Amino acid sequence: MLVLGIETSCDETSVALVKDGTRILANLVSSQVEIHRPFGGVVPEMAGRAHLETLPPLFARALNESGIEAGKIDGVAFTRGPGLIGALLVGTAFAKGLAYARELPLVGVNHLQAHLYAPLLTGGEFFYPLIGMIVSGGHTLLVHARSEREAEIIGSTRDDAAGEAFDKAASLLGLDYPGGPEIEKAARDGDPRRYDLPRGMIHSGDYDFSFSGVKTALRYLIERIRSEEAPLPVSDLAASFQAAVVDVLVKKLAAAAGETRPETIVVGGGVVRNRLLVSRLREALSSSQSHLLIAAPKLCSDNAAMVAGLAFRRLRRGDSDPIWVDADPGLPWGRGIFY
Ligand code: KG4
Ligand code: ZN
Repeated sequence: MLVLGIETSCDETSVALVKDGTRILANLVSSQVEIHRPFGGVVPEMAGRAHLETLPPLFARALNESGIEAGKIDGVAFTRGPGLIGALLVGTAFAKGLAYARELPLVGVNHLQAHLYAPLLTGGEFFYPLIGMIVSGGHTLLVHARSEREAEIIGSTRDDAAGEAFDKAASLLGLDYPGGPEIEKAARDGDPRRYDLPRGMIHSGDYDFSFSGVKTALRYLIERIRSEEAPLPVSDLAASFQAAVVDVLVKKLAAAAGETRPETIVVGGGVVRNRLLVSRLREALSSSQSHLLIAAPKLCSDNAAMVAGLAFRRLRRGDSDPIWVDADPGLPWGRGIFY
């Protein structure tokens, strides 16, 4: 079954063609980073307009480059939410138009669930119980699934998402946008122990996160160093900040794994491109019996292949959405892992 995936929830326009949930025949991503860079963050109105310009030609390119005719598509998948409403509406309208015109089944996908699906694109399978962690620009959350049909969010951020904290910290340090990769780069030559930044809620005893404290502490530290007219030790600050955020993420996931003893642990979202986070997670979970699944870096960031792959799980059991299904910027998690 060949599924077309469309992703427009934030600042990447992406179109993918995926066969049987795992074979990626095309996965084109057009990033709007250059458009939003001067503003240091995503400008929602501009994101929507850019998707509108980019999506139709990107769809044509995906067909051309993979040599697939539109008539061969068996189903249309799109990101319904959560995300920016103007951005989501572009992908939703495009997907609905195509599904209606070609009489194809339509599936609206939850973007966060798609991030968890990403490692399955390259093989592997979920066994239950499962613990999932999503760490992206908009979300930081932990999910516990007893089965494919029963999943609940057991923890989430009370303020900033981890990726958002990376982006804000980078801006405080005068680094480029998006901040995550820039902090990681700067941290390579830095001493992570030079500054002891707060590990928000690390001892809270629950699975919630808070990243606004570490960002504020970094801001005060930078102000203090500047007031002393000392040069800003950007690498040490970046390394200390990165270590603080990674510590919390690793500790909370390890605690959830220790308590629930999952068969599978799956980690997804743009921040999982961070190599320190991945190596610390592997280390912390090395003695657990759980199988750890982490997507390839390219598939951690927003892409449409994960959307098409997840939709296949619904389509293959004959499940799809009615044509009036709508974009929902605050789409709740749902009942299970793929619903
Ligand atoms: O999942 P994603 O592509 O988009 C959302 O759905 O939010 O995540 C984007 C976020 C940004 O905040 C970006 O700074 C962060 O992922 N990110 C990183 C790295 N690469 C991307 N954070 C830390 N280290 C990285 N190497
Ligand atoms: Zn995302």
